[in-house]
Amino acid sequence: FKLTTVEEFEAATARLLETGAKVGADAWQFRVKNQTPHCKFGEEGVCCRICTMGPCRITKKAPRGICGCDVHGIVGRNYLKFTAGGSATHSDHGREICHTLYESAADGCYKVKDPDKLIRIAKEWGIETEGKDIYDLAHEVAETGLMEYGKPFGTQRFLKRAPESQQELWEKNELAPRAIDREVSCSLHMSHMGCSSKPEALVKQAIRAGLSDGWGGSMMGTEFSDVLFGTPKPIETEANLGVMVEDNVNIVVHGHDPSLSEMICEFADDPEMIAYAKEQGAKGITVSGVCCTSNEVAMRRGIPMAGNFLQQENVVLTGACEAIVVDVQCIFPALGPLSKCFHTKFITTSPIAQMPDSEFIRFDAHTAGEKAKLIVRTAIENFKNRKPELVHIPQLKQKATVGYSTEAIVKALDGVTNSQVDELGTTKPLLECITSGVLRGAVAMVGCNNPRVRPDLAHIELMKKLVANDIIIIASGCSAQAAAKAGLMDKRAKDVCGAGLKRVCELADIPPVLHMGSCVDISRMLVLAATLAKDAGLHISQLPVVGCAPEWMSEKAVSIGNYVIGSGIDTFLGVDPYACGSSEMVEILTNGTKEWVEAAFTVEKDIEKLGDAMIAKIEEKRAALGI
Ligand code: SF4
Ligand code: FE2
Repeated sequence: FKLTTVEEFEAATARLLETGAKVGADAWQFRVKNQTPHCKFGEEGVCCRICTMGPCRITKKAPRGICGCDVHGIVGRNYLKFTAGGSATHSDHGREICHTLYESAADGCYKVKDPDKLIRIAKEWGIETEGKDIYDLAHEVAETGLMEYGKPFGTQRFLKRAPESQQELWEKNELAPRAIDREVSCSLHMSHMGCSSKPEALVKQAIRAGLSDGWGGSMMGTEFSDVLFGTPKPIETEANLGVMVEDNVNIVVHGHDPSLSEMICEFADDPEMIAYAKEQGAKGITVSGVCCTSNEVAMRRGIPMAGNFLQQENVVLTGACEAIVVDVQCIFPALGPLSKCFHTKFITTSPIAQMPDSEFIRFDAHTAGEKAKLIVRTAIENFKNRKPELVHIPQLKQKATVGYSTEAIVKALDGVTNSQVDELGTTKPLLECITSGVLRGAVAMVGCNNPRVRPDLAHIELMKKLVANDIIIIASGCSAQAAAKAGLMDKRAKDVCGAGLKRVCELADIPPVLHMGSCVDISRMLVLAATLAKDAGLHISQLPVVGCAPEWMSEKAVSIGNYVIGSGIDTFLGVDPYACGSSEMVEILTNGTKEWVEAAFTVEKDIEKLGDAMIAKIEEKRAALGI
């Protein structure tokens, strides 16, 4: 067993770009060159265009915009708008899942696969469950969830999952998120021309809007996806482009919402469809995934992961992709023109993400089965249009064990320690590993790829460094896929760990990097941290746990960053959130927020230093606890 290196990934990409050159395909690698150097005002966050007296940009000569706003106000407003975009996006995904749950029915396309979880949530929310039909309950819970978006009074229901100490901090500092849509609206209101220009107020609202995502929209997205499609359990899969099969019809699902991908997987598995694929000259059908949609179906069905964010063009460049089917978020508009260079069908399905040069097959809960069938059929019929001379699938892949929901982690860790039987099924065994020092702590590795950072390198190098130091990793999103492609989710990767983590991996039969799911599933990490803190009688901020997004790029990631620090977890970033133009904003984000939420950001572009800083932070927390 050997880990795959980033150099090997890059060699595979280079070979694919040769195919691209033959057909005149564009690629992000070229567009980055065209966009370099980037606009410095934009990079520093000092450009404002929120009213038409501007646009204004702050320089030494012009320290204020026409309205008189200074650089701190401009950077702060931009930061808040960025966060609101991310919070809205995650939360709207959560809302779609609520609607899907609402549409679930015994004889419908969508069923309740985890009724126990539904009942648990209903009880948590004070909804009567006794003697109710499970679908009546699903409707009631879904409707209650939908009200979380617009209720006029009160704060988010799931906040009660946090330790008391955390809830008190939120209350005291006016950070407890109210209705989700209200936090997004309020953010846009505050950052409108002529409203807030005080950095503290803007950052506080950014945290509150972030928290409405993490403990609101995203958490509902995760929980109700589990109710509908099953709570993930450990399952074997594979990762990297080598999962595509040359002789088969290749359907690639990309985006975020499992409502689409689940249905595609369902029908691609249908004997009738497989027979049709054979009729059309293929040996079978392979569904693989890109980005978070991939994480969703990998976690629940073991569907292989073709790649992460910056590999989305690569799947088309293989020349063996019959259809790339997308829903929302993180989809390159480049896929339209690119797919035209090949036989690939670029199928968009959501009114939220409509793109030129795509075939739009509108997907909704009522017609899900029919539309999924149509999409699979379209892909099958496209197999014959392949240009054999353009087909090249890099033979690169690794095995991975995925599916570590919080529930699955708790169960796996039961095997590790000498805990009493009555402590099994809790986080106590994991806490014992941490207290005894067998594990030094945990890092949540999350986020995207970004051409500003050599893709995947920061994720993989940081993980290797951390596991060697007996720090267990929980991962989600494109970070998780980077780990899987490298082989860090193969149980044999225990051999690159320190002695303590290696022992835990052997006893619990887990890989050192645990795949917790998609980006909305960072809410699983919040629940895990909250449960650990409650079981240990500590504040979340006292746990030797940190978050890290070394290659992040989207607005959603900023929203995540805000709710992670907002939940008491120090967060380490490898890319600056367009805030470096304001000394006051930098001070608040890297230090000032500690006063409100006991955590802050560290931004460090040097990977080695970023890793050292995380280890130092974990050791500092251990020392403070005397462990
Ligand atoms: Fe310029 Fe102020 Fe208008 Fe921004 S809000 S564009 S700083 S005048
Ligand atoms: Fe994602």
